[in-house]
Amino acid sequence: MSRRKAVRFVSLSDVEEAAGRAVPERIWSYVMGGAGTEWTDRANRAEFDRWVLRPRVLAGVSKVDLSTTVLGETVRAPFYVAPTAYQGLVHPEGEVGMARAAARAGALAMFSTLSSASPEAIARARPRGPRWFQLYLQPEWEATERLVRRAEKAGFGAIVLTADTPVLGVRDRQLRSGFAIDSSLPLGGGPGVVPPSRGPEFEGDSYSVGRRYGESWEAVDRLRSVTDLPVVVKGVLGGADARLALAHGAAGVVVSNHGGRQLDRSPPALAVLPEVVRAVRGRAEVYLDGGVRRGTDVLVALALGARAVGIGRPLLWALAAGGGAGVERYLSLLATDTASGMILTGQSAIRHLDPKIVAPWPG
Ligand code: FNR
Ligand code: LAC
Repeated sequence: MSRRKAVRFVSLSDVEEAAGRAVPERIWSYVMGGAGTEWTDRANRAEFDRWVLRPRVLAGVSKVDLSTTVLGETVRAPFYVAPTAYQGLVHPEGEVGMARAAARAGALAMFSTLSSASPEAIARARPRGPRWFQLYLQPEWEATERLVRRAEKAGFGAIVLTADTPVLGVRDRQLRSGFAIDSSLPLGGGPGVVPPSRGPEFEGDSYSVGRRYGESWEAVDRLRSVTDLPVVVKGVLGGADARLALAHGAAGVVVSNHGGRQLDRSPPALAVLPEVVRAVRGRAEVYLDGGVRRGTDVLVALALGARAVGIGRPLLWALAAGGGAGVERYLSLLATDTASGMILTGQSAIRHLDPKIVAPWPG
């Protein structure tokens, strides 16, 4: 493993810049890029600016408990490592560093089908504690099932089916830099694992997704018939799809627009969270990712009904800047920021967070 000088960052606000200095331009375009005009990626962030946290004074809080449960497992924090592909491109420690750092923080971590490390290597790096396997459906069902078996055998606790990527979004920034997701990028899962195709291609008289079948809800039924692991559907952005996920037996849904990398002009995740929470009515767990950067963002999303929130790009920045140690540092800064926000809003336990700490702005 090549040694690289760690770049230091002292606050949550410094991580992006530190990472930008550590990563070559083409890879940076992959990490940062969204689909199209990147409106949705910007809107994910901007949506947090529509809310304020209401401070409470003299509330007598002397201790703060950040722990919660995700599908029955206790975690030390209500934020988790969102699944992101090819972590080995930003730092040689890749997913192994990410897994170790999440384990030390006691946080849930999700790992991509397109990881640079194999599911088995990730499992060795984090033998215990919740880690979930993010699944991309493969062109052939047998290959999908093989991945599920490997995840089960390696002790992953849930399958997170990413449903918003039947094809990759049109990512202008990557087109410009020449970065392409294709089978030339090495995958820990082996050469048999296939990334989603790069976009609809003209074939004969129509545009094709590059495989025989379009993905449908039937895949969730099929998954559930071949595994006892809970299935979480990632990429739900409205009540109708949330209800379908429940009807097909999902144990949870992730409200996500894939960090604005799929459908540009899809709504910011935070904006549709309340609608999804209402549709689910407590029958499954609701998570959110997209634009979460600080502990105060975590509290806003939790107060609006998310059980836990995923962090995508910032953890890639932290990994790029300092490997696993950088990720550990980021998670620790995020926990401190969350705890500080709780004390200042008069809250002592994430499990009993008062939804009234959040209010629309301007009111
Ligand atoms: C992703 N995301 C993602 N999602 C997924 O289900 N499987 C994957 O392989 C990837 N890969 C991936 C790579 C990179 C470079 C990024 C930035 C994102 C999406 C990810 O899980 C999450 O939805 C977003 O990153 C959340 O938005 P923020 O936190 O980046 O704003
Ligand atoms: C991405 C895919 C691989 O967003 O999920 O790059």
